[in-house]
Amino acid sequence: MAPSAHSSVGAAPLALPLDAIAADVGTPAYVYDAATIRSAYGELDAALGRVPHALHYALKANSTLAIVRLLRELGSGADANSVGEIEVALRAGFDPASVVFTGVGKTSAELERAIVLGVKTINAESPGELQRIATLARAHGTTARVALRVNPDIDALSHPHISTGLRTNKFGVPIESARALYREAAATPGLQPTGVHVHVGSQITSLDPLTSAARRIVELVQDLREDGIALDHVDLGGGLGISYDGSRVPSLTEYAAALVDGVASTGLTLVLEPGRALVGAAGLLLTRVVDVKEYPGGPRFAILDAGMTELLRPALYGAFHGIVAVAPRSGALQPYEVVGPLCESSDIFGRDRLLPPLQPGDLVAVLDTGAYGAVMASTYNRRPLPPEVLVDEGARWRVIRRRQTIDDLLALEA
Ligand SMILES: Cc1ncc(COP(=O)(O)O)c(C=O)c1O
Repeated sequence: MAPSAHSSVGAAPLALPLDAIAADVGTPAYVYDAATIRSAYGELDAALGRVPHALHYALKANSTLAIVRLLRELGSGADANSVGEIEVALRAGFDPASVVFTGVGKTSAELERAIVLGVKTINAESPGELQRIATLARAHGTTARVALRVNPDIDALSHPHISTGLRTNKFGVPIESARALYREAAATPGLQPTGVHVHVGSQITSLDPLTSAARRIVELVQDLREDGIALDHVDLGGGLGISYDGSRVPSLTEYAAALVDGVASTGLTLVLEPGRALVGAAGLLLTRVVDVKEYPGGPRFAILDAGMTELLRPALYGAFHGIVAVAPRSGALQPYEVVGPLCESSDIFGRDRLLPPLQPGDLVAVLDTGAYGAVMASTYNRRPLPPEVLVDEGARWRVIRRRQTIDDLLALEA
């Protein structure tokens, strides 16, 4: 499998039949390319080939059933961050034994469901959660497989809102407490420590934080071995970033190469929970220009029919996404403020973007929106959720989630 390009913005979905899709399902709509997902999964899986490994796709990135099924068919396990994601994984055909369950505030009801199902591992985030798991497992006459999520106090060098490995973040237990907690867990009826877990953040574009975290985890595994605690896997979480702006990021092959050596020395199975790196570049948000207006001597706005309700990342993190005209008109490039239709000044997809002349009705694609796009959509301003379309084998495509209707939107209301 060819290594992924280091610096290409997700251009493959642009080759999809976007005109026909827009004509059929309308806009805004998410469009995904199955081939891009297959190729990313295949590259990472092959690059880890030297060590026993298990990929657990992080559903939080995109949990639309057909996407989750596609990952299962490729051989992936699942990483669920809520009981809702566990249920989606089950409906997508995952065996509970191929699901890991993570999350900083799992309720007792969520833990109970995971224990009764017999998930592969519950990644516990605190001493209190370990005790709650033990109590629930004993009440059900079973033993729960657990890993402790360790906080290694490492800066992921990503956006602060998606950096999770610093001492000041709410995630996991401080690494210096981990050894004692493992000893306690190993002696607690109802608990079976089977792994160790770390996840230092998302959209990480330097390998250093990931390799530093791996080193600390490997040291912990060795300490635990001295204590007679034998684990079966090391879960290094997800977090590898993609290139949203064309700058160079590590490829999946480089990422795998950086992690395998350290873990190979433990002889344990390497578990990874990739989300964005598998699906991010496979999706685009297809939208139409609703209006173009220019202030005298001031900015020129292209107002789209998609906004922060469909794609929250720019408003939430100031995230950059490439924006292109699907059928560029001839004429000089012009700077545009590319904005959504919502009554919020943060509803901006791109400032000062050089684009060919745009007119109302033109199709525009917002790139690299396969991860943390549709899953974060909301119905603010009573805007129905957009449809999602999966394209496979060239031009064949199908609606994998239909557009929400106003009736759907009101279905839960008195
Ligand atoms: C515990 C855990 N695992 C995996 C992921 C997936 O991360 P990413 O999509 O950056 O690979 C996340 C997301 O932040 C997470 O919180």
